[in-house]
Amino acid sequence: MCGIVAYVGSRQAYPIILKGLKRLEYRGYDSAGIAIIDSQLKVYKRKGRVAELEESLTGLSLSAHIGIGHTRWATHGEPSDRNAHPHVSQSGKLAMIHNGIIENYALIKQELLNKGYRFQSDTDTEVLLNFIDDIREQNRCSLEEAVRIALKRIVGAYVIVLLDVENPDTLIAARKGSPLVIGIGKQEHFLASDASPILEYTKEVVYVNDYQVAIVKPDELILKNLGNERQTPFITKLDMDLAAIEKGGYEHFMLKEIFEQPTTVFDCLRGRLDAHQGLITLSGIEQHLPILTQAKRIIIVACGTSWHAGLVGEYLIEELCRMPVEVEYASEFRYRNPIVGANDVILAISQSGETADTLVAIERAKQNGAFIYGIVNVVGSSIARVSHTGTYTHAGPEIGVASTKAFTAQLTVLTLFALRLAAAKGTISRERFLALCNELATIPDKIAHILNDAATVEAVAKRYTDARDFLYLGRGNNFPIALEGALKLKEISYIHAEGYPAGEMKHGPIALVDDTLPVVFIATKDAVHEKVVSNMQEIRARKGKVIAIITEGDEFTAQLCEAHISIPETDALLTPLLSVIPLQLMAYYIGVAKGLDVDKPRNLAKSVTVE
Ligand code: G6P
Repeated sequence: MCGIVAYVGSRQAYPIILKGLKRLEYRGYDSAGIAIIDSQLKVYKRKGRVAELEESLTGLSLSAHIGIGHTRWATHGEPSDRNAHPHVSQSGKLAMIHNGIIENYALIKQELLNKGYRFQSDTDTEVLLNFIDDIREQNRCSLEEAVRIALKRIVGAYVIVLLDVENPDTLIAARKGSPLVIGIGKQEHFLASDASPILEYTKEVVYVNDYQVAIVKPDELILKNLGNERQTPFITKLDMDLAAIEKGGYEHFMLKEIFEQPTTVFDCLRGRLDAHQGLITLSGIEQHLPILTQAKRIIIVACGTSWHAGLVGEYLIEELCRMPVEVEYASEFRYRNPIVGANDVILAISQSGETADTLVAIERAKQNGAFIYGIVNVVGSSIARVSHTGTYTHAGPEIGVASTKAFTAQLTVLTLFALRLAAAKGTISRERFLALCNELATIPDKIAHILNDAATVEAVAKRYTDARDFLYLGRGNNFPIALEGALKLKEISYIHAEGYPAGEMKHGPIALVDDTLPVVFIATKDAVHEKVVSNMQEIRARKGKVIAIITEGDEFTAQLCEAHISIPETDALLTPLLSVIPLQLMAYYIGVAKGLDVDKPRNLAKSVTVE
């Protein structure tokens, strides 16, 4: 949520910052801006996309060796030129970018108003900036000292980066709760919300920790805590290449990421599943077997698409491990007074590893003594670091705002987790374990098989582009897939869509059915197939338009549908890994047919670091 990028060194800062902003645009894209210092501080910002900012700057000479840039997802104040970052302090000496929310900004703003400060924007950022400037002025101290004093009073989440006209070779940055990566070059440093803007310049990075302040010059990086004690920067090597964050010939990142799934699921299984030997090894489990096997309950905490993965996880774990599982929206869990303690294992599922609600929820549960197991995609992210242990999903960078390959990687990890734990607990027969291991190993090829026929999905999608509403129905472990299919469509095409358990449909949503409503069924062959087919008949009787995801060769169900998409047969427990693929494609093709920006849908952001 909000992308920040900054540079200090001997190169031209502007092109580096601009390119970085384009890479970070998935984090928010309602306005963008940059500030540089050549002989003086210059700030350029405007409502709209980074490309519009770039266009407005064409022809200007932007020569500077230090600068900051920001792409915004609005929280305080509507998207506008005036609310765009960077903000400049009233004294004109400081410029700042910020990702996060300052919760007690109203109180501080009032204090500053009483002192005669006036504000140009509605943002909490401008309040914090002037607060820092005021502290520096009052205490006649250095900027880093003023930042430390200010941050001790701040409640909320932040990454801030400041430019100081009186110190034009130094960036001051700090973080709490939002991500900040510093790339280490030769006589230069790159700061960003994630590694993507840094990757083409250096692979050596430092992940700044909460409550650290960074003093960054071309040839020096100093980290201090809020008590002014120096802390040694821990340098990590990025294990990622540039191709992973580029479109590679696809029209959109979302399409590229959908098509990457045979590979990403395979990568997720690699080294963990040995189907021949009938062996699953997950270091997160192996190292903590007693805690995991003796846990009384598993609580899955997540948001959005990751929450849907959690619902599938509930089916897997309850079925295979015979232990109770609860799936919680992190944003609800954290504000209740949940009964959670030492006998509970929390599975925190997050693509970004930075989702504020999930992060705070697990921090609270950890304080109560629960054991935290993170299922995270972004290596080194906050949730990964707060967790006691966990498993990375290894899907590679996901840039399209609507999650696709991260979801199937989460399902893959959850399947491995459930199988491994079931084997350890003795709740699965060796025969069933082997059968599922063998079937899991075939999933990448089966996904590829579905993708080979993407044209069929495209043709189906085009028939329903003008629908006003959609209903998605499924039972059992395909109910979460109905939810996910509806979410994908909503996100990408702005068509209202609801996911429902197929059996629950008659208790309300059936009132919506008429001859204009497309109803998407996940009607693969499993134990509840006949029940789903009965629900299909109920929709047909009311003239609804039935579209179904069916198992290859199921001619009977095909005949009941206005349109159908076939997927290969698999074990019913693994079906979600396949049934979601056509739904991702359908949302994508409908969004594209409607001429929408599927990679950056309106109002959304990829990484939600505010509550
Ligand atoms: C945002 C994204 C969703 C994502 C959710 C949870 O809303 O737009 O695609 O599912 O956050 O994100 P996480 O990174 O925790 O999985």
